Parts: sequence; structure tokens; C-alpha cells
Amino acid sequence: MKVVKLFAVIWLFTFTLTNGGASKRKLYIVYMGDHSFQDSESVIAANHEMLTSVMGSYKGAKDAVLHHYTKSFRGFSAMLTSDQAKQLAESDSVISVFESKTYRKHTTHSWEFLGINNLEKYHQPLMDSTSNVIVGVIDSGVWPESKSFNDYGLGPVPVKFKGVCLTGENFTLSNCNRKIIGARFYYKGFLAEYGPLESFNHTFFLSARDGDGHGTHTASTIAGSVVPNVSVYGIGKGTARGGAPGARLAIYKACWFNFCSDADILSAIDDAIDDGVDIISMSLGPDPPQPIYFSDSISIGSFHAFQKAVVVSASAGNSFFPKTACNVAPWILTVAASTMDREIQTNIYLGNSQVIKGFSVNPTEMESFHGIVAGSAAAAPGIPPRNASYCKNNTLDPALIKGKLVVCTLEEIRDDRRAKAITVKQGGGVGFIFVDPLARDIGAQFELPLALISLEEAEKLQAYMASEKYPVARISKTMTILPTKPAPEMAMFSSVGPNIITPDIIKPDITAPGVNVLAAWSPLSTDYTGGRSIDYNIISGTSMSCPHVSALAAIVKSGHPSWSPAAIKSAIMTTATIQDNTRSIITRHPNGSQTSPFDYGSGHINPAAAIDPGLVYDFDASDIIDFLCSTGASPAQLKNLTGETMYCKNASTSPYDLNYPSIGVSSLIGSISVHRTVTYYGEGPAVYKAELDYPAGVNVSVTPNELRFKKMGDKMSFRINFTPYKTSSGEYVFGALTWTDGVHVVRSPISLNIVSL
Ligand SMILES: *[C@@H]1O[C@H](CO)[C@@H](O)[C@H](O)[C@H]1NC(C)=O
Ligand SMILES: *[C@@H]1O[C@H](CO)[C@@H](O)[C@H](O)[C@H]1NC(C)=O
Ligand SMILES: *[C@@H]1O[C@H](CO)[C@@H](O)[C@H](O)[C@H]1NC(C)=O
Ligand SMILES: *[C@@H]1O[C@H](CO)[C@@H](O)[C@H](O)[C@H]1NC(C)=O
Ligand SMILES: *[C@@H]1O[C@H](CO)[C@@H](O)[C@H](O)[C@H]1NC(C)=O
Ligand SMILES: *[C@@H]1O[C@H](CO)[C@@H](O)[C@H](O)[C@H]1NC(C)=O
Ligand SMILES: *[C@@H]1O[C@H](CO)[C@@H](O)[C@H](O)[C@H]1NC(C)=O
Ligand SMILES: *[C@@H]1O[C@H](CO)[C@@H](O)[C@H](O)[C@H]1NC(C)=O
Ligand SMILES: *[C@@H]1O[C@H](CO)[C@@H](O)[C@H](O)[C@H]1NC(C)=O
Repeated sequence: MKVVKLFAVIWLFTFTLTNGGASKRKLYIVYMGDHSFQDSESVIAANHEMLTSVMGSYKGAKDAVLHHYTKSFRGFSAMLTSDQAKQLAESDSVISVFESKTYRKHTTHSWEFLGINNLEKYHQPLMDSTSNVIVGVIDSGVWPESKSFNDYGLGPVPVKFKGVCLTGENFTLSNCNRKIIGARFYYKGFLAEYGPLESFNHTFFLSARDGDGHGTHTASTIAGSVVPNVSVYGIGKGTARGGAPGARLAIYKACWFNFCSDADILSAIDDAIDDGVDIISMSLGPDPPQPIYFSDSISIGSFHAFQKAVVVSASAGNSFFPKTACNVAPWILTVAASTMDREIQTNIYLGNSQVIKGFSVNPTEMESFHGIVAGSAAAAPGIPPRNASYCKNNTLDPALIKGKLVVCTLEEIRDDRRAKAITVKQGGGVGFIFVDPLARDIGAQFELPLALISLEEAEKLQAYMASEKYPVARISKTMTILPTKPAPEMAMFSSVGPNIITPDIIKPDITAPGVNVLAAWSPLSTDYTGGRSIDYNIISGTSMSCPHVSALAAIVKSGHPSWSPAAIKSAIMTTATIQDNTRSIITRHPNGSQTSPFDYGSGHINPAAAIDPGLVYDFDASDIIDFLCSTGASPAQLKNLTGETMYCKNASTSPYDLNYPSIGVSSLIGSISVHRTVTYYGEGPAVYKAELDYPAGVNVSVTPNELRFKKMGDKMSFRINFTPYKTSSGEYVFGALTWTDGVHVVRSPISLNIVSL
């Protein structure tokens, strides 16, 4: 079972599940590529006929099918035995048959931090035109009553929209409006893999209504209307808004209780493309390792989207470590997560009036001091102190923690923090303190007061506790600190490259705010809000940064309706910045460690620059095919992806020659030249000059190093020549190529692995 996560999930969702019941038959996706049937009915009839031939009966076939993919491509998902799957795979019209996997889903100040308010001031016509842009959000649904989804001031639904407002449990036609213009939901894949929704013992709605909060949060971050005076218990107070408050939302609910089935996601992508969305935002993805593109539903579905001019923006994952970035296909915009210049700080006051700086979302002030005890000093009988320090269930002695603040540590970075908090609460603790490297990255909430502290602060706390016989402390209400420096910093949890599938494409592509983002929430989702019902919530994850980039894509699209997904991606990437607000290179939590493009790709989004990038690196689906050919893709693999029989041209392109807006060579052997072409988007003639930031161990030149454009739309090609003089011993070295006309700065990071001279 593959999985992707939503938020910096550690705190939040950590369900463990067993595969529900499908012991013999499993859920398979049967993919048949493009089709020439007249309508959906004929596709369904043909699907049934094909399945009848392997199942033996029409009824059996009909019962086995969960979804028919009839629009943007042909296929179906069905419960099959492995023999039946094999038989289908042998059929001529079938391109591939793969077992469905499961994915996990991986504020307001963030848009101020990104300077979007100025953008509106100076580009009002542009912002108004975002009302023609439709963003499809594949997630856990939406809470339609949230003020963030009011449609005040919006014109009629764009005529190009072909979607529907599907009614269902607690979701009527009146829950759609001129903001939420479409709503669909998908659950058959989930049921087949996990069994009945009821067995999760959680609130859910068999409709697009969101019981989780995640989908409401992501949708409102993208296109939420402007709502003044919003906060979470007074924390992070301000005006809540999406990045493109004029844009429309089409909601595709394919995730339930933090899990999303492959089969359901593919159905949602098929519908979204056909409904006429401009952007698909997917804050979900596979757990590492990323599967090859030819058998991954997100890669396949988003390739079709790319072909049909739909931008797909997806989260890179919350997996901390190198080589864990997911959703890394070149036709996806892959988003990492970083901080903004706001911290939500929860101080701990010690008996000696020292203050320890902690982090959490803590709504109440502890009135009095309480004794403080380390988990290791409160071990249950027979438990070694070290084990007790992790505060796992049944390791603490209730007699020793009752009425106390308990200090807990982590065994592993992925520990389930919430389970530890429950242990402390069940043992009668009155609050708890976690020593956690992720402290600043997750705004944790719980029924009891809590604060997460860094290792450095933990040393101060330890010194105090060692110096007192009866150490005491109290945890304060969370304060909002603004502005902070340095910002942005990469979130510790944000998944890191290199790209393990096609290493010549640098991934992630970009970073955006994904730490302690405030946005709308489902008031029924209280498991991770300390049991409190709230309309807005502060959460973290690449799931939160992805919608920022989806919104920016909507803004760029509204300014340049004819641009391809690759051009929009280029505009966002080449204008990104790698500097923080102290003018140093962006660093990484928790230690301010050095970063590279494998952390943030081209850098941090810069909306004002992205709408006028100057030059654009464009590519289309046939360039992608050439690229895949250059990586050795076979016709059978290409067919798996595109649905069509394709052969590679004999022309010897190289994978690093895809006209991508960043430049990667994963195996540099001797001198080479990398080729790129830029298209000029500006008024009148212009001259762009090349500036280089040299990677270590290699001489670089650009020919020509000056590009002269006469008029908008002119294209010019150039070569970047690399002459290595020192191998990089298996490590990557980094640099950049920047074209500038003195006003526009068009930057491409370079990553090289110099194998030999
Ligand atoms: C859902 O609908 C039922 C039946 O109308 C109603 O009793 C219930 O309160 C509704 N739930 C929510 C959360 O609106
Ligand atoms: C739901 O509750 C039932 C009965 O209390 C229990 O057997 C089952 O394990 C629970 N399911 C989950 C997913 O927690
Ligand atoms: C903002 O909201 C708070 C509590 O929700 C309320 O007390 C306050 O009066 C509001 N302020 C404004 C300016 O509306
Ligand atoms: C096509 O996809 C199927 C299902 O994942 C996989 O088993 C098969 O190996 C793929 N074919 C190629 C040529 O990659
Ligand atoms: C303590 O932790 C160690 C390592 O995790 C484990 O092997 C051991 O069984 C634990 N001891 C007890 C009594 O739980
Ligand atoms: C801890 O273990 C006890 C039984 O030993 C069980 O009743 C309780 O539900 C467990 N708590 C958690 C949070 O798992
Ligand atoms: C951060 O610094 C602490 C203390 O210097 C060290 O123990 C820890 O390993 C560092 N963490 C990272 C991720 O570099
Ligand atoms: C491609 O090259 C191979 C081997 O060099 C040759 O056999 C084949 O005919 C060529 N195909 C085309 C379409 O040129
Ligand atoms: C690299 O450039 C330097 C200075 O421009 C030159 O001295 C050196 O010979 C070059 N090295 C190679 C391998 O071309």
C-alpha cells in the first residue's frame, strides 16, 4: 500500500490500517488510453463486454466495476483476481493493468508575506480576470458554509465549465455557488481497499462535504474569498483570503480519513480535465519511493492533463530525507514547503523566571505553576528510564505524573506525537513539553496545554530541572510573532531531491509557505484541534504549500490565458528567489543548515515577478516523449503513459536537453553542451545578457551570451557548455544561469554530478 501524507502528519494523522478484507480479489485499474468512442455510454458498454469475457457473466462484470474512465481517457477500475487481471492485460486494447495503491493527503499571512496585496493594487484588471480561472481541488472535500467560500461580487459561472454540483449527504445544490462551482465525490476505490466508511468511527459525509478539514484548508488557501478578522483563538489574527480570491473552485473529493485510493484519484482527474478546469491542485502523493511514471496513476493522469493544457500542481511530500521527493514527473509542478516571517510561539515560564521558547497552538494561559517531571524520571515499574522518556503507552507511572507537566522526547522523527500526548493525559498529567526538532514546523494542538521545544531550549530546561529539588513551570497562551528573520526557511519535514526517477530534472521545482498556515477548516474535524470545533485552523505540510502555487498558477494563467502548462511553470520557477529576508541564501530548519536546489528547486515563489517573467522556457507533450525516449523508455512504457502506440525518434536527444526551466545533468562525463530555447514576452526590442554562477569543478560558458529580441513571441536558442576539471565524487555541485535585461531576472538553477573529466 502506497501512501502520501497530508500535513506534517506526524502530529496529525497517523492511522494504521490493515488492508480491508480484499483477500483474494484486489482493486485493479485497467487503462486503455485515448479512445474514439462517441460518448461515455459506449465506453461503458465496451468495458462491460471486455470484462464479461474474463468474468464469465455480464452481471459479474458489472458488479466488479467500480469506476469507468470514459472522458479524457478510457479505462475502468474493478475488483479482480490476479488471474483475471493477467487475462485483461493480454487483451489488445488494454495498455496496462495495475493494482490500485493508496495515497495520503500530504494562512492568511502567507499571502501578505508573498506581497500579493501589492500585486492587487497594481494589477487590478489582472486580479479581476482570475474570475475566469477554474481550479480543480482533489482532496477531502469542502465545508461550503465557511465564509471563505462566499461568492460575493463574483460574476456568473464561466461558460466553459462543464462540471456538476453532485448532491449527497448534507450537500445540496444550494451548497454550490459562484465560488464553489462544482462538486463531485469518489469513494468506490476507498471502499474496495479499506472497507466501509463506517468502520473508521469518524464523522464522514457521503458527499463532497469535508469531515477532515484538509480539503477545506487547501481550497480556501487557493481561492478563498476575503474574510476579515479571522484567527485561531486569537492566534495569527488577520484577514483570511486565498491567493486568487476571484478564481472558481471545482471540488473533487477523493480522500477519506487521510487516505486516497489510486482508482478514485484517476477518476477525479478524468472528470476534472473534462469539466474544463485550468489548474488541478493535488496535496497528496505516494509515500517514497516514487513509483516509475509508467505505472503511477498521478503521473499518468497528470500527463493527460498536461496534454489538455491543464496545469497540475502537487505536493513534494513530508518525508524529511534526500531522495524522498514525490510527484516528480517533469509535467507536474512539484512543491516543497517553507516558513513565512511569522512564528506562533508558546513560552514556558520556569520557577526561576527563566523563559523557554516553545511552539504550538495553545489557546489558554496556564494560571498557575505546576511541578515538572521528565518522562524518564517517571518510569512505570520495570520500564527503563530511556524507554519512559518517549512517553509511549504504558511506560509512565501515573502516580509520578499526576498533576504535573511531563517532558517527553522522540525515539524517531516519525514518532506519533499525539499518542504520547494521550498517554500523558490518561496518566493524569496537566500539560506536556516535547523535545522535538520539528518544534517550529508544526503548530500542534491538544486538549491539554503543550509546547514543543528545540534541543537547545531543552538543554536550558534540563539545567533548571537539575538545579531544583521541586522544579515548576507553566505554559503560556500562544503568541503571534511578526515579522521574524530569517524567512523563509525550508521546513524540516519538506521532502528533498534528487529526483530518483529522472535525475536530470531537478525536483522539487519550487517552494512556498507550508508552515503554520491559517485557512478555513471543517468545524466537525476536532481530533487534531484538541477536541475544539473551529472554523479556521493553523496546520503545516507540503499539502499547504501546494495550494499557494496552484493559486499563483491561476494568477499567471489569468494574465496569459494562452500559455501552456510548461510556460506557466517556467514563469513561476524562473522568477523564484533563493534569498531570505536577510539577503542570505535560504537555510533549512532546525539548525539553519545549508540548502541546495534539491530542497527548494528554483526557489521561493515571487508572485509579482511571475506574472511578468520576461522569458519563458516552453515544452509540449512531444518534447516529453523525446525526453522519456532519451531516458530509455520503451514503446510499451510510452503506451502505458500516453495510451497511444509510440516509437522513439532516432534523433539522439539527451535527457538534459528537455527545455525545462532548470538545468540538471545527473551524469556529466567530459565536456558537454546543454541546449535551451526561450520565448520572449515583452513589448518592443530587448537584449538579455547571461550571468553565471559557477558550480565547483567545472568551467561554464553560454553561447551566445547575449540574446537580442525584436518582438513578443521571438524564440532564441542557446547552449550552455560545461567543461569539468574536477569530479564531484558522487555528490552534486550547484550553480545557476540567469538571463537579465536589467529589469527581468530569469534564473535557472544548475545541478551537476561530475562523473569524469
Ligand atoms: C446532516 O443532515 C442531517 C439530516 O438532515 C442533520 O440532522 C444533521 O444535523 C446534518 N449535519 C450537519 C453537520 O449539518
Ligand atoms: C471502530 O470501533 C470498533 C468498535 O469499537 C472497533 O472494533 C474498530 O477497531 C474501530 N475502528 C477503527 C478504525 O478504529
Ligand atoms: C474580531 O473578532 C473578535 C472575536 O471573534 C471580536 O471580539 C472583535 O470585535 C472583532 N473585531 C472586529 C474589528 O470586527
Ligand atoms: C505498464 O504498467 C503495468 C502496471 O503497472 C506494469 O506492470 C508494466 O510493467 C508496465 N509496462 C511497462 C512496459 O512499463
Ligand atoms: C526498551 O526499549 C528497547 C529499545 O527500544 C527495547 O528493546 C526494550 O524491549 C524496551 N524495554 C521495555 C521493558 O519495554
Ligand atoms: C494504552 O494501553 C491500554 C491498555 O494497556 C489501553 O486500554 C489504552 O487504550 C491504550 N491507550 C492508547 C492511547 O493507545
Ligand atoms: C541540529 O543541531 C543539534 C545540536 O547541535 C544536533 O544534535 C542535530 O543533529 C542537528 N540536527 C540536524 C538536522 O542537523
Ligand atoms: C533507427 O535506428 C535503428 C538502428 O540504428 C534502425 O534500425 C532504424 O531503422 C532507425 N529507425 C528510423 C525510424 O529511422
Ligand atoms: C577553466 O577556466 C580557467 C580560467 O578561465 C582556465 O584557466 C582553465 O584552463 C579552464 N579549464 C578547463 C579544463 O578548461
